[in-house]
Amino acid sequence: MLKRTFLTLPLAVAAASLITGCNDKKTTDSKASGKADSEKILRVGTNPTFAPFEYQAKGSSELTGFDMDLIRAIGKQMGYKVEIHNLGFDGLIPAIISGNIDVAVSGMTINEERKKAVDFTDPYYTSGLIILVDKNNDDIKSIKDLEGKKVGVQIGTTGANKAVKIKNAEVKQYNNSNEPFLELDNKGVDAVINDQPVVAYYLVTGGHGKMVGEIMEAELYGMAVKKGNKDLAQKINAALAELKKNGEYDKIYKKWFGS
Ligand code: ARG
Repeated sequence: MLKRTFLTLPLAVAAASLITGCNDKKTTDSKASGKADSEKILRVGTNPTFAPFEYQAKGSSELTGFDMDLIRAIGKQMGYKVEIHNLGFDGLIPAIISGNIDVAVSGMTINEERKKAVDFTDPYYTSGLIILVDKNNDDIKSIKDLEGKKVGVQIGTTGANKAVKIKNAEVKQYNNSNEPFLELDNKGVDAVINDQPVVAYYLVTGGHGKMVGEIMEAELYGMAVKKGNKDLAQKINAALAELKKNGEYDKIYKKWFGS
């Protein structure tokens, strides 16, 4: 059940060059001018199990979601062809460090721990963690009530960091972001901790359960680049600022989150 469908950390570094995002190598936003060879390529890493930010839509090989639309628009703005690589979430930072990808766009929260390993662009989305439990569960109303309980999370996430601090909790860590939801359904865990917009999207798209308690502290998503790669961070920030100014960011936001 806890089997990893992607790669463990050291392997991910070694093998990331072999994984060329089986899904989405072809970009939809390269310029129509046919200058393919001279075109600059932006290698984007993501873990597409995190709807509505990045996921594989049913019956499609395309990766879709808010982050995917945003980085494609940013790439276009920068004059880069966007190439998307499908990786384990905990393999993203190693892939940046090893140079196998240029940027991780994966609903990644900016935090001090990660800032030691990578640089972040300006924040592009405000999120926060929430607890999901079974509809009929009336015992768990807040994080306090998770003491001694089984909690499902995705490996390497802020939700996992939060869960391991809960007293006597048995934390079950899964490779993908959507696996803990299935485990909750199977009663393999009592609760899931995940990002609120992802849990909310899961519920409105037919997932089972209910959110309890408050959204925990605000978390800002940023795009992660190699430490010291100021040039790329600046280009992304400039493109993001332009998309915010010209209404494109709002359009993408509305598409995925309404109003
Ligand atoms: N925001 C959380 C974090 O940075 C979870 C991100 C998970 N993203 C994903 N694509 N699975 O740790």
